Amino acid sequence: MQGSRTPDLSQFAEDVLHGLSSMPKQLSSRYFYDDEGSRLFQQIMELPEYYPTRAEFKIFREQKDAICDVFLSDRGGIDIIELGAGDGAKTSVLIEHFLRVGSDITYLPIDISQEANDALEKRFHRNFPTLRISPHTGDYFKVLEDLNSDGSRRKVILFLGSNIGNFQQNSAVDFFRRLRRVMTDDDRLFIGFDMQKDPRVIVAAYDDPQGVTAAFNLNLLTRINRELGGDFDLTKFSHYAQYRPVECAARSFLISREKQTVHISALGRSFDFEQWEAIFMEISQKYTQPMIEELAEKSGFEIETEFVNEDDFYVNSLWRPV
Ligand code: AVI
Repeated sequence: MQGSRTPDLSQFAEDVLHGLSSMPKQLSSRYFYDDEGSRLFQQIMELPEYYPTRAEFKIFREQKDAICDVFLSDRGGIDIIELGAGDGAKTSVLIEHFLRVGSDITYLPIDISQEANDALEKRFHRNFPTLRISPHTGDYFKVLEDLNSDGSRRKVILFLGSNIGNFQQNSAVDFFRRLRRVMTDDDRLFIGFDMQKDPRVIVAAYDDPQGVTAAFNLNLLTRINRELGGDFDLTKFSHYAQYRPVECAARSFLISREKQTVHISALGRSFDFEQWEAIFMEISQKYTQPMIEELAEKSGFEIETEFVNEDDFYVNSLWRPV
């Protein structure tokens, strides 16, 4: 492919152009979550094969007393800031407990979706009328910087659901380092990690027989068609998921079933696909305990304590800045 960049492309268009011009081709899974993508992800979380959501729920339900204890600070009230809160369902287990024991908490969910935040706020107002809640929509770091906290209350930042697994290793370190910069020494970071386990269990979670995960991946092509004037024919691509146990990484791809050319009018470009050529769509990194320790250390944190689900191999890790 050749040609120069159109100057006023959106970030989405820029990233699609860069990804489809790369070798191997790739698209970023951060664009999965338009309205339809968010609905499909809700369906994924209910699939019998997709264990991570239930695994984390179990930790919250069974260990909420201990989790809430370690969140509290001698200095008084705490601000619970959740990055990518979605429907906030897991966090509501902790909120309910905090309110029952009379803790001074404020809940600040941050999500890129205004729609998700509105729905969450409505539901939390109904279920917890006394809760101080302040949802924010937008980029995590921009919101965190704008919050401009005076440091008088402990911030506990939640990054749940093994969302960190969707970052490449280096980006995960950069992400946590940036968080570190907006945290005081008394603040805490609480992260969900999906651990290595039977590879067959992982592959099943990312290649369900109902085809919901396939639809979730293919939806990004629909989004490109709609928002960027693409002419992807979805029937000519198939979803393929694999897990590499040595790297502890699940990856998903869309495979071109035939030799074809796809045109994207907003980019003014066509992209050629060989038969069986892959587009790399998503990484879902799994972890070992040494990997978590190394990630914490490289990012400027140490592990304070962990809450483990031994049956599903899932860990919620509480980090403190060093
Ligand atoms: C959001 N994220 C943690 C999910 C995961 O498990 O990597 C996204 C997902 N992709 C396919 N199924 C679920």
